[in-house]
Amino acid sequence: MPKEQSFAQCLIVWQQTAGRHNLPWQGSRDPYRIWLSEIMLQQTQVATVIPYYQRFLASFPDVAALAAAPIERVIEHWAGLGYYARARNLHRCAQQIVAVHGGNFPKTAGQLMELPGIGRSTAAAVAAFAFGQRAAILDGNVKRVLCRIFAIEGFPGSAAVDRTLWQLADTLLPEHGIEAYTQGLMDLGATICTRHAPACPRCPYVDECLARRDGRQGELPTARPRPTVPERSSPFVFITDGRHILLERRPPNGLWGGLLVAPEGEPTAILARLGLDCPQPQPLPDLRHAFTHFRLTLQPVLCRVSTFSCCHSAPYHLLPLAEAAKAGVPTPMRQLLRQVANAAG
Ligand code: ADE
Repeated sequence: MPKEQSFAQCLIVWQQTAGRHNLPWQGSRDPYRIWLSEIMLQQTQVATVIPYYQRFLASFPDVAALAAAPIERVIEHWAGLGYYARARNLHRCAQQIVAVHGGNFPKTAGQLMELPGIGRSTAAAVAAFAFGQRAAILDGNVKRVLCRIFAIEGFPGSAAVDRTLWQLADTLLPEHGIEAYTQGLMDLGATICTRHAPACPRCPYVDECLARRDGRQGELPTARPRPTVPERSSPFVFITDGRHILLERRPPNGLWGGLLVAPEGEPTAILARLGLDCPQPQPLPDLRHAFTHFRLTLQPVLCRVSTFSCCHSAPYHLLPLAEAAKAGVPTPMRQLLRQVANAAG
């Protein structure tokens, strides 16, 4: 972007020379066609939308035709596009435009936003493309573009970052040429500044983009914060006479339900409960294991006993030490049983 050029001017020039110009909803100022395309494009890629868009227009050529159609026919035309709430809102919106607005789309983003299925960004796109209104779009692609070029930190789905991005999007708007500017933002996000492997050398902001400057295209926009998972730790007691190892079958429900596991709990308490004597319990290295909802640090303790005076019936099982790792045991247990076999075998 040459210094004398504004952000918007740069994008407008780029859109005119390198942007998309032959999409079926371009070259028309018909708000009905533009609105329909924007709704279809909300969660769906251009290539998927095009045939649906054309079939839909052939069956429902204007807002009055759509409003008068039974919802079942509308849904039939939507089948395969997904997110069917969009089709229901589309139909309700058409009916509202006929009933409340005399069949004419309102011309400002503010009024458009009051209609079913039209959010702030879609309202701005329709207002810009159909009526030349100066209004900012901010969909997922545009958020990504702005977060990268201006190095906006934080998860864009958070209220604070969302507010920052809307403010930025507002201040960047051009005085003239809103149509090419708006299309340029969409084109940049869809064709150059893609989520993975953005084509930076072809970007009009290649020299200004802060993410590019610092090699942070992969870090911006900031990912959704991962919920912190609870941490637990627990001792597991590996009792062996040098030939056999004691495992316990877990109750059917709960963690590792039905699997064979070394007894879990304080070694002295477990040995006492089983009536076994081990003069020198030997701690082995911890093993961390990630479950979906928490992380567990297994603290293995090796206990050598001279003979097994217990544990010859369910839920206990005495397995040959060398083969226990191959039995029906959970993954971290398999790893620990190998260590135990090496240490005690
Ligand atoms: N995505 C959303 N709106 C679009 C449009 N008008 N053209 C291309 N892609 C889009």
